[in-house]
Amino acid sequence: MRQGSSCWRRPQLLANRTMEASYGRAYAHPEKDGASTWMATGPAYVPGAPQIGNPGVLPMAPDEPGETLLVSGTVRSTSGKPLPGAVIDVWQTTADGRYAGLTPEQAGPLDGLDVVDFDLPKYHLRGKIVTDAEGRYEYRTVVPGVEAAAVPGSLLDDLLLMLGRANSRARHIHAHITHDDHHMLTHQIHFDGDPLIDAVSEGAIARDLIHKTELHEDPSTWEARGLTGPYRTLTCDYTLRPIGFDEVKDPYHLEGFWKK
Ligand SMILES: [Fe+2]
Repeated sequence: MRQGSSCWRRPQLLANRTMEASYGRAYAHPEKDGASTWMATGPAYVPGAPQIGNPGVLPMAPDEPGETLLVSGTVRSTSGKPLPGAVIDVWQTTADGRYAGLTPEQAGPLDGLDVVDFDLPKYHLRGKIVTDAEGRYEYRTVVPGVEAAAVPGSLLDDLLLMLGRANSRARHIHAHITHDDHHMLTHQIHFDGDPLIDAVSEGAIARDLIHKTELHEDPSTWEARGLTGPYRTLTCDYTLRPIGFDEVKDPYHLEGFWKK
C-alpha cells in the first residue's frame, strides 16, 4: 500500500484511535487523587497551533460572530502545586459549529457532517497558552457552536431519533494540557445549561467537565476589558497527574504522532 492512499490511511486511522485511547489510562480513576477527567482527542485536532499570549486571544476575525468568552483558570498537579510553564493547546468550532484547518483528507472521518470550513485560516480558533509563574492562564474566544454528530437522513441519524438522543454534540472546547513532569491530559470544556448535555449519544458527560458561565452586561465592565459588548467568563482549572518513578513517559511526541 502506498502511504497517503485511502487504503493506507484507514488502518492507520484505526491505529491512531487505538493508541490515542491508551493515553486515557494515565487518567483512569480520577476520584483517587482529584485528577481531571480525561476525554478523547477526536478527529478535529490539528498540530502546530501558534502560541498566543497569556492573557491571549485565539486567532479569529476582528468581527468574529458569536458571544465573547473569557476562559481562565489554573493548572495544578494532584498535590495541589501550581504548574508554571504548562502548555494548553486549545481548539474549538466557530459559533456556527465548524472547524478550521483540516485538509479534505483529515476531514475524511467527518465526511457529510458539514462541520469543517475549508475557507478559514488553518489555525482559526486554535492556539497554545503557556501558564504563568502561578500556573494561571486566560484566553479570549467565542462560545463554540453545536457540532453535528450524524449525517442528516443517515442510518445513525434515524437510530438516534428512534432512541431519543441528539444528533449533534453539546457545545465544547477541546484542549491538550502538557507539562514536563506530568501525563498529558486531553479535556473538553462543556457548558452548564446546554440542553444537549443530557441528550448526547456518546454517553454521559462527567460533571466536572461542565462549567458555568457568567454573563457581564454592564458596559463599564466591557470598557475595563477593552471590549465593545457583553461577554461571558468561565473558569476551568486543570489537575494533572505526575508521571510515577516506574512509569514510562509518553513513547512519542504528540505533534509528531498526529502529523502521521
Ligand atoms: Fe469537537
